[in-house]
Amino acid sequence: MRRVYADANATTPLLPEVMEAMRPYWMERFGNASSIHFDGQQARAAVNRARETLAGFLNCHAAEVVFNSGGTEGDNTAIFGLLRPGDHFITTSIEHSAILQAALRVADRGVETTFVAPHASGLIAPEDIQRAIRPQTRLISVMLANNETGVLQPVEEIGKIAGAAGVFFHIDAVQGAGKVPLDVRRFGCHLCSISTHKMHGPKGTGAMFVRRGTPIEPLLVGGSHERRQRAGTENVPGIVGLAKAAELAMQTLEDGTMHRLAALRDRLEADILRIPGTGVNGAWDGGEPVPRVANTTNIFFDQLEGEALVIALDLKGVSVSGGSACHSGATEPSHVLMAMGLNKARARASLRFSLLKTATEADVDYILQVVPEAVEHLRALSPVAAGTLG
Ligand SMILES: Cc1ncc(COP(=O)(O)O)c(C=O)c1O
Repeated sequence: MRRVYADANATTPLLPEVMEAMRPYWMERFGNASSIHFDGQQARAAVNRARETLAGFLNCHAAEVVFNSGGTEGDNTAIFGLLRPGDHFITTSIEHSAILQAALRVADRGVETTFVAPHASGLIAPEDIQRAIRPQTRLISVMLANNETGVLQPVEEIGKIAGAAGVFFHIDAVQGAGKVPLDVRRFGCHLCSISTHKMHGPKGTGAMFVRRGTPIEPLLVGGSHERRQRAGTENVPGIVGLAKAAELAMQTLEDGTMHRLAALRDRLEADILRIPGTGVNGAWDGGEPVPRVANTTNIFFDQLEGEALVIALDLKGVSVSGGSACHSGATEPSHVLMAMGLNKARARASLRFSLLKTATEADVDYILQVVPEAVEHLRALSPVAAGTLG
């Protein structure tokens, strides 16, 4: 059976060039980057080169790049590293759980958090961030692109607000990296987190931009790695893989790949919307299209259980994600879709399609072949849906 992977926002496969770049650093160039002998120097040189590449990718100085284990660590570091009892923290109700759970934890330590809600479109209004600022506000954290809807947030405007108020600003750029150009200077942020496995590199690696002079306490202490900002022997193959993935991402941001991908996504979306009782979550705001990353669309299928559709599509060879997450055995509707004002039934009836940048017309054709059939079949089985959608 044919398989089409349309869950790129969950994770991506390594590109062959990334695998090739990493390969020697597990075997013949295995040295510890802290060792002073030849083997160590080889590893150190690779880490230094990777740091330069990342500086180009983020538009910062090499000394402002800290390698880590990925998006969760970056998000946690921003919050645990900067916030102290009595501080106020501003974030949004549509962040990844790596931010939301860390905010809950610092609440126990006397940090109050304001969760700014999005518009129905999934966009966060900079004015709402502005209004939430208090004298005690120390940190604002807003994601660049939402993982479920792909909606791009106005981080540049939020950066200006944070700068004017003298508040630190962290961007979770995990879902934006590789899909839109990153420029931490233009964004006006102090901290920015990225994760390698979302951009065709290995899992368990990532990086964080830490603007020079930002007084962040390290999450991990031990050796003096990463200028004492992140202890632990460097994951040299992972770091090399991240640099190669970033290099390839910079190329695809310029060679028209993203336009091609947006056209594929738009065709997928338009065709699915011909099915009755469907609509896009996070596409329009007051009649205007909302900026989104090129690969993502989030669609509701009324009177269906999203999980059932995910399973039905999986059985037909198509991998997508639903608008629900399983928490301690119970299926909860997505907090992102709920924050956008969807009711529980519609949030549960939503699916995220996120295309790989290697997706083809034939992949989209196949998805479009199986989705209408699966929807029709499931609706025919559902007593609620029978006869109500025309
Ligand atoms: C927006 C966002 N932030 C953070 C993370 C966590 O990144 P990692 O998987 O590297 O820990 C993810 C992963 O799904 C994400 O989508």
